[in-house]
Amino acid sequence: MLNAIEQKRRQRLAEGKEILSLVSGNPCEQGIYFPMERLQRIYGEYFKKPDYQPHPKGLFIAREALAEFYSKLGFNLSPENFILTSGTSESFFHLFRLLGKAGANFLAPRPAYPLFEHLADLARVHLKFYDLQEARAWAIDFESLEKAADQNTAGLLLISPHNPTGVVASREEIKTLSEFCRQKNLPLICDEVFSDFYFQEGLCPRPGALEDFPLVFTLNGISKRFALPMMKLGWMAVGGDAACVDFVLDQLETYADTFLSVHMPIQRALPDLLKYSEDFVENYVEEVKRRKNLAVKFLKTIPKLQFKEPEGGFYLTFKVLDKVGLEEETWVLKLLEQTGVLVHPGYFFDYEKGVHGVMSFLTDPVILEQAFERIKNFFKI
Ligand SMILES: Cc1ncc(COP(=O)(O)O)c(C=O)c1O
Repeated sequence: MLNAIEQKRRQRLAEGKEILSLVSGNPCEQGIYFPMERLQRIYGEYFKKPDYQPHPKGLFIAREALAEFYSKLGFNLSPENFILTSGTSESFFHLFRLLGKAGANFLAPRPAYPLFEHLADLARVHLKFYDLQEARAWAIDFESLEKAADQNTAGLLLISPHNPTGVVASREEIKTLSEFCRQKNLPLICDEVFSDFYFQEGLCPRPGALEDFPLVFTLNGISKRFALPMMKLGWMAVGGDAACVDFVLDQLETYADTFLSVHMPIQRALPDLLKYSEDFVENYVEEVKRRKNLAVKFLKTIPKLQFKEPEGGFYLTFKVLDKVGLEEETWVLKLLEQTGVLVHPGYFFDYEKGVHGVMSFLTDPVILEQAFERIKNFFKI
């Protein structure tokens, strides 16, 4: 059953009406492309002599390149600490299955990217939420975290930079999370798919490099970093207490061996991607930052939309001040009907307090500007 917003979107498309979408987090839809000739060269080499000798954890050369890459970010991991997957979603699924026995729950931030709930359902575990407090610039509400944990809690999820608020967990928050995980003996699963898109000074604070967790899974992949979501490559970096790490790596290796899901040529390509594509990543991050600044500039012209400037990622969440009392869905539908601009309502992200919208600032700047002109008209500014 389609929700009313998706129905309206499809209806407009069928009627040939324009949609200015502010919801895509796919760089390839927004004019950002990895230089394909680099992959063509590597793939060309591979197909001269295509061999297939998979390793359940992923090719050693790929894991070795990851260990080197992460050592520059302050992680102390060997190639054996890495498992390749066909994407971060698959990594989450394996971890939910591995760590969560029947009736288990995982603590996840609210608001949160809806994918986690679907993955938890599939893995037959469920999520319990801890709050990110809007009034405190989306800081973690540790009281709600304490309250959410119970004897069935099997792990804690951190998304940093966060989708959809753009907030980044601070060093102090990471320290408190490590104390919480130590005290309750809980693993941390840290989704860092947006860690390159960090708009503050220095490196994005990474729990796996900064603090001592009993177990910490750092999840990432090439979908966002190299704008290559179609190549389907992700990984988990597993750190923490040696005995726990060895045990889970062994189990994860068995899971991975069952599917051998990772496409072989992209594993071959990963060392080159990590070593020789820094120039691409730097320009791309600059471009995303430029688009973020543009979105922030436009949003500031609409006082009825209140937001916290994102510290990282592709998304931001704004509060609609003068429509309080209106259903969130009604507002998003009205905006779409009257202006053709599509944003997500906050409730898509399990955020049910007040009236919110979520937008991707990755959006092509031309569309971004047109969309904001129409949003201003909508609010009669
Ligand atoms: C926070 C977050 N985690 C994970 C994913 C999925 O990543 P992948 O393409 O590696 O499966 C996304 C996709 O947008 C995301 O926003």
